[in-house]
Amino acid sequence: MRLLKLLSALYLIIGIARSSSVSSDYDGEFEPRAPLGEKEFRQELKSGLHLVEFYSPYCPHCRDFAPTWHETWRKFRKEGERLNISFVQVNCVKDGDLCYDEAITEYPAIKLYGPEGFIKNYPNEYERTEGDLINFARQEALDPINMEATDLEISSKFLNAQDFNELLAGKGKQPYLVSFWPSDDHEDPLAGSKSYDFCPECQTFQKLWPQITKKLLLQGVATGHINCETLPNLCHEMEFHKLVNGAQAVDNYPRVALVLPGKGVNNLFIYENGFSSSVWSYEDFAVRAISNSEAPEITLEQIVELVRQDFQFPESKNLPVPSQALHVVFAYSPENVVTEDFHVLEHLVKHLAKVPNAYLHKSKDDVSTAAKVSLDYMYEKINYNRSEPVKLPKTDYLELNLVPQSPTFYIFKEGDWVPHLYVGDSTTETRNVEALAKWFNESALPVISEVTPYNFGQLLSFQPSDYDAVAIQLVDLTDAESIKTSNEQLKNFIKAAYDYEDVRMQNVVNVRAEKRANKNKRIKELKAAKASSDKIGKVYHEEIKFEDKNKVILGYVDISKGPHVLEDLGFHRGRDDYKSGDVLVVDSYSSAFTEKDVFGNRLTTDSMYALRETLVKLILPELSHFHERLESQELSFNYSRGLDIFEPMRKHKVWRYFFIVGALVLIVKAPSFYKKFKSNKKYKAKRSTVGILGQPSKRSKD
Ligand SMILES: *[C@@H]1O[C@H](CO)[C@@H](O)[C@H](O)[C@H]1NC(C)=O
Ligand SMILES: *[C@@H]1O[C@H](CO)[C@@H](O)[C@H](O)[C@H]1NC(C)=O
Ligand SMILES: *[C@@H]1O[C@H](CO)[C@@H](O)[C@H](O)[C@H]1NC(C)=O
Ligand SMILES: *[C@@H]1O[C@H](CO)[C@@H](O)[C@H](O)[C@H]1NC(C)=O
Repeated sequence: MRLLKLLSALYLIIGIARSSSVSSDYDGEFEPRAPLGEKEFRQELKSGLHLVEFYSPYCPHCRDFAPTWHETWRKFRKEGERLNISFVQVNCVKDGDLCYDEAITEYPAIKLYGPEGFIKNYPNEYERTEGDLINFARQEALDPINMEATDLEISSKFLNAQDFNELLAGKGKQPYLVSFWPSDDHEDPLAGSKSYDFCPECQTFQKLWPQITKKLLLQGVATGHINCETLPNLCHEMEFHKLVNGAQAVDNYPRVALVLPGKGVNNLFIYENGFSSSVWSYEDFAVRAISNSEAPEITLEQIVELVRQDFQFPESKNLPVPSQALHVVFAYSPENVVTEDFHVLEHLVKHLAKVPNAYLHKSKDDVSTAAKVSLDYMYEKINYNRSEPVKLPKTDYLELNLVPQSPTFYIFKEGDWVPHLYVGDSTTETRNVEALAKWFNESALPVISEVTPYNFGQLLSFQPSDYDAVAIQLVDLTDAESIKTSNEQLKNFIKAAYDYEDVRMQNVVNVRAEKRANKNKRIKELKAAKASSDKIGKVYHEEIKFEDKNKVILGYVDISKGPHVLEDLGFHRGRDDYKSGDVLVVDSYSSAFTEKDVFGNRLTTDSMYALRETLVKLILPELSHFHERLESQELSFNYSRGLDIFEPMRKHKVWRYFFIVGALVLIVKAPSFYKKFKSNKKYKAKRSTVGILGQPSKRSKD
C-alpha cells in the first residue's frame, strides 16, 4: 500500500510533466458535444471504439464528474481520432429506452463499445480521472483484441531531413523515437518488400519496430524512421557512420534515438546499449529518458519509502521480481541554488540512459535527513543480537562523504539501507558530468542480483578496488511454501550483510583516521627535525583518499531450476546436497569459494552472527576474532576479467535479461499499472526481470 501511495505520488509528478505532450493536442475551439440520441447512438457506434458515459442530469455524481469527462475528451480528442476511439454521452432521462436496452442500472455508467456492441465496463480499479480515463482508452484502442474494431493503421513515419530537423528544433508535438537504417536504396526501410540480406539485425528489427511503435504510442511517444542511404549527411552527423553505405559495413544494425519536444537543446538521446531484439529495451530507454529529462521532484518521505522496500521474492513464480530501481537525487536548497546548478541535470540524462533502471530526481527537501533516516532503519535491523553491544549508525562514515555545499547528489536504491553520497570537493565537482557518470556506474548494482553464467564474471570483476567478494544465497522458488521459506532466509541474509557493512564502515572511518593521525605525526616529526617548509608542505598537502572498499556483492541462485544451475556457475566441485538457505561466498580475486562458516559448520542464513563473522574473516581478516583458516575451493571456471559489465550480455544478445519493466512502468503509470498487474497476466511476464544484473524473464520474448 505504501508502495502504491509513493508510486502514485511519483505518477502525479510525472503525469504533470507528461501531460504537456498530451496538451499539445489541445483544441481551443472545442465545444462539448451533445449527448447522443438512440438513432445517433446506433449509427455512430457502428464503427470504431466508443467510451460511453450513461448519465442522468439529476445525479450529483454525474454533475461532479462532467467537467472531468469533457476536459479529458478535449485533451484526448486528437489522439482519440488517431486511435479510432471517441468519448460520447447518453442522457438516460431523455433516452430511457436506450439505457434500458443497455441495462444501465446506475449513474454515471461508463462502458466501452465496439461495432459489435458492448465490450466491457470501465474497470472499478480505475479512477474516474483524466489520467486513468486516457490510459484506459489508449490501452483498449491498442489492445490486439480490439484491433478489428479500431482498424488502426499505426505506423512509424518515414521521415525526411526536414522532418527530423524540425524534431531536433523542438517543434515535435510529442517525444519521438526514431530508428536509423542502413540501406542500399532509397526505399522505405519498413516496406514489406525490402529485403535485408546484408543485415540480419535489420530483418529482426523490421518486425520489432512496428511492435515498438504500438507500445510507445501507449506512452504518448511517436515513432519515425530514416533511411541513411537517402540521408547520409544526417546519419554522419548522428555519428551513425556505419549506416551510410550500410550494405558494405559490418555492425550496421539499425540505431535508435529519442528526440524530445519543446526545448530544441539537449533533447536528443541515443540508444547506446547495442542491438537488442527486445521491445522492452527500447521502451525502457524512451520512457526513462523522458522522465529523467524532467527530473521530477521527490520528497523526503518518498525517498524513505523507497529505501524501506526490502527486497522479497513475490509469492508466486509468475509475479514480477521487484525492480530495485536506482534513484539519483539532486538535492538543492531553493535559497542558494543557481540556474547553472540545474544545467548539469540535462547532461546526466544520456549517461543515466545507459544505467538500466536508473531514475533522476531533484529534491528541495532536506535529503541528508532522508539519508540519516535510512541509516537508522539499517541499525534497527542489525541490532538483532542482544548479547552484543548496541551498534550505532556510523554517521562519521556519512559525514566523510558529506559535501558542505549545497547542491549535491545522492543515490538511493530501492531496498538499500545505506545511502550513497556523491563525493565532490567543490561546486565544480557537482557539475562534473563525467565524474558523476562514473559514480552512477560504480553505484549501479542493486541490493541483490540473480547470479547467472552471463553475469557471474562481471559480478566478480565489478569495481575490483571496492568489492572483494560475492556472497550468494541459494533460494528455492518452486512454490508458495518454498518461496516463503526463501524469503525468511533472505531477510537474515540481507541483515547479516548489512551487519558486515557496519563493521566495514567503521573500518573505513578508522583507516582514514589512522592515516590522518599518521600524516600529522609525520608533520610533527618533520617540524621537530626542522625540515624545510617545502618538505613539510608536501606532506601537508598529501591527500587522504576516501577508500570506501572491502564491500561485498549480494546474489542469489534459484536451485529450483535444477542441479545444473550451480554447475553452470562453476560450483560443481562443491557438495551435491545444496539447499535453500545455504550461502556460498566467492572471493573476487582468487575465485575461490567457501561454504563453511568460521565455526567449520555449513554456511547458511540460519545464523546471522556466523555469516557476518565469516564475511569479516574472509574480507577483513585482521579484524576477525577467529584464527582458524577458512576452507575454500576453486571454482571450476576462470571468469574472464576486465570486461565492462554489460559487454558479455551484449554479445549474447541477452539484454532483456536485465531490462526491467518494473519500476519504469510502475513509475510512469503507477496506479493503472498496479491494477493491470493484478488483472492482466500479459504484463506480469514482462516485468519479471530484476536489477541491472537481473534474472532472465521467462516470457519476455518481445
Ligand atoms: C475506425 O474503425 C472502423 C472499423 O470499426 C473503420 O471502418 C474506420 O475506417 C476507422 N476509422 C479510422 C479513422 O481509422
Ligand atoms: C558507464 O558504463 C557505460 C556502460 O558500460 C559505459 O558505456 C560508460 O562509458 C561508463 N561511463 C563512465 C563515465 O565510466
Ligand atoms: C550474539 O553474539 C554472540 C557474541 O557476541 C554470539 O556468541 C551469539 O551466537 C550471537 N547470537 C545470535 C543469536 O546470533
Ligand atoms: C584459472 O587460471 C589460473 C591462472 O590464470 C590457472 O592456474 C588455473 O588452473 C585456472 N583454473 C581453471 C579451472 O581453469
